[in-house]
Amino acid sequence: MTETKITARNVDVFYGQKQAIDNVSIDIDDGMVTAFIGPSGCGKSTFLRSLNRMNDTIADARVTGEIRLDGEDVYAASMDPVALRARVGMVFQKPNPFPKSIFENIAYGPRIHGLVQNKTDLDEVVEKSLVKAGLWEEVKDRLHDAGTALSGGQQQRLCIARAIAVSPEVILMDEPCSALDPIATARIEELIDELKDNFAIVIVTHSMQQAARVSQRTAFFHLGNLVEYGETSQVFTAPRNEKTKDYITGRYG
Ligand SMILES: Nc1ncnc2c1ncn2[C@@H]1O[C@H](COP(=O)(O)OP(=O)(O)OP(=O)(O)O)[C@@H](O)[C@H]1O
Ligand SMILES: [Mg+2]
Repeated sequence: MTETKITARNVDVFYGQKQAIDNVSIDIDDGMVTAFIGPSGCGKSTFLRSLNRMNDTIADARVTGEIRLDGEDVYAASMDPVALRARVGMVFQKPNPFPKSIFENIAYGPRIHGLVQNKTDLDEVVEKSLVKAGLWEEVKDRLHDAGTALSGGQQQRLCIARAIAVSPEVILMDEPCSALDPIATARIEELIDELKDNFAIVIVTHSMQQAARVSQRTAFFHLGNLVEYGETSQVFTAPRNEKTKDYITGRYG
């Protein structure tokens, strides 16, 4: 049974006077991968960032409309954005480990969010997160090496492990494979497939193949609008909108 995790209704996002997202409404379901696709500049990252209030960190960004996480208003005054971002984690295009050890990259979140009581708990969370991110075997003997000393693909899995460590409900990924080679990309795609059973995952990608491989739902954005949203197989094989069809067949991008 699928449950809706995030509901967005009539969301607009502005940067100063410029509108980047126009009246977007979407339901994002739990236990599956939702892909956001569309040409560069159409607002995919902007909309993704509005889901966990990362746009708050951009001085002239303004979000209107309604976004709810399990029914809770994400933009309510009572919502703590730091706690929200633990519940709705984010993985960026360029792996961005902290300039700390592999261990500390993972341990930081659980510690500041008070999720662990002692060193034994902390060790366990670090190991479990690295196991889930498919990185444990590669790093278990070098946990105190710098996170930045890992390869790009390993760093991206470290960032995924870091997001997982605080037991999020949703993981937002903005082009997580675009800096990776095909082997590291395949590894992350496998990982996304495994993780979807426990989290709602949203991935922005410019690769139609990747969207088709990893997602169950696809949302096509164009000029700030959500043009089409449906089952990935439907969107790719029988798009309802001409613009979607043009985009997925490579007529513009
Ligand atoms: N920090 C910002 N300040 C002002 N305008 C911005 C900012 N970030 C994005 N924009 C504008 O908002 C629009 C949407 O940008 P956004 O980055 O969300 O697109 P995108 O679909 O993620 O593109 P890409 O595929 O290239 O990553 C663009 O016109 C962009 O110039
Ligand atoms: Mg983007």
